[in-house]
Amino acid sequence: MASRQLSRAEALACPGCMHACHVMLYCDTKTLLFGSLPIRHIILMQMRFDGLLGFPGGFVNPSEESLEAGLTRELSEELGVALPILEEDHVDSRYAPASSSSSSSSSPRLITHFYAKKMEEEQIRELERAATTATDHGQEVLGMVRVPLYTMKGGGGLAPFLSHSFAGNARSQLADTLLHLHLVSPEELREAVACSLKIQASAAEELRASLASAEAKRKLL
Ligand code: APR
Ligand code: MG
Repeated sequence: MASRQLSRAEALACPGCMHACHVMLYCDTKTLLFGSLPIRHIILMQMRFDGLLGFPGGFVNPSEESLEAGLTRELSEELGVALPILEEDHVDSRYAPASSSSSSSSSPRLITHFYAKKMEEEQIRELERAATTATDHGQEVLGMVRVPLYTMKGGGGLAPFLSHSFAGNARSQLADTLLHLHLVSPEELREAVACSLKIQASAAEELRASLASAEAKRKLL
């Protein structure tokens, strides 16, 4: 469930809260997929150590560093580049869903701060190259991924991407920011989300069938 937005000041004043900052790095592109389908924008996300998709960034302690300096430190570990992020790049702060903040209900609440930074296409490509030699590559970050924003005739593109599993608030941060920055239209997003729900329902069926088949094989052994 989406949680209430907090102002940056309100978030920083929360007693005992933990803070995590993540950023959407993106650019415009004229590149065509298969020579005909406009890719429109490159948006960087990552496949994380826990099998979830997320944005680059991580935990920040505001008593030791500013939110933005902490985010830049996280980017240097995860992308291999200490990319400066500014207060003006801030998009949104909110409480993370309870399940992603910690392992126990008595642990401090987590506030996630989200940023977006527009770059040149060549800078984004350079970041993708640098990420393969970053400290966290192959450890906390299994690889950078681009978000497919288009919809193909057979339904491929944004809808199947949204049906994956995401860390914390990352899926709503992605959807909200796509709209906020006019990178997709409300109609495109609505259709992709509707299609994504159908994909998730059929994935659940497929998983149940795989489980049943694994159980049947186990009984035969
Ligand atoms: N993208 C990624 N994570 C997000 C996002 C997002 N858009 N929004 C919220 N989160 C949540 C994650 O679910 C996680 O609980 O923020 C929290 C911290 O973010 P990470 O990127 O996982 O933190 P990082 O500092 O990079 O380090 C990960 O923390 O959980 C431990 O043991 C784990 O060593 C690992 C470290
Ligand atoms: Mg991280």
